[in-house]
Amino acid sequence: MAKVEFPLGGVYSLLEPGPVVLLTTSQAGKANVMTLSWHTMLEFEPPTLGCVVSRRNFSFAALDATGECVISMPTAQIGDAVTGCGNCSGRDTDKFAAFGLTPVPASRVQAPLLAQCFASLECRVVDRTLVPRYELFVLEVLAAWVDPALPRDPTLHHRGYGVFMLAGDTIRLPSKMR
Ligand SMILES: Cc1cc2nc3c(=O)[nH]c(=O)nc-3n(C[C@H](O)[C@H](O)[C@H](O)COP(=O)(O)O)c2cc1C
Repeated sequence: MAKVEFPLGGVYSLLEPGPVVLLTTSQAGKANVMTLSWHTMLEFEPPTLGCVVSRRNFSFAALDATGECVISMPTAQIGDAVTGCGNCSGRDTDKFAAFGLTPVPASRVQAPLLAQCFASLECRVVDRTLVPRYELFVLEVLAAWVDPALPRDPTLHHRGYGVFMLAGDTIRLPSKMR
């Protein structure tokens, strides 16, 4: 079959790297949460990741000023909260109240964990080199928490414009990774 040219603006939806996550920040005692899907692992240990946070978002200033955040992993069970947090701003909305998310104190950073998420990663910014050009913050995970009582799937994977793939089935294939 002949190839059909794919719009460059949609490339991200083919390469979407991982689950949609929720990024919490806290500045001057005010916590906020935003939805984020542009993230990637960079190092195993210490666990290091890259996250693109647009400077148009309220969260950008808090992340940049405090150098801290928490990345939490939701499942489709709270999909409405996930999309809700990505479609309004902490500038004028208390998203925790609006979407029924419960902040839980973290151990190493001011930003809160989220009770409804099966995993939460406490992070600090370790490299801002790519922020001016790509709004990409490099984060080191300082502490990681999981809630064994919460299901880990199906996670949500963004395909663009409100379309999500659900991941759930797990299979094991031969691996030489150590
Ligand atoms: C599924 C989804 C994924 C998103 N991924 C990102 C992302 O990776 N980076 C980003 O800057 N904004 C992303 N957004 C947009 C922000 O979540 C959105 O602009 C949000 O309103 C910002 O909130 P804030 O102003 O309280 O920081 C995403 C939104 C959705 C719905």
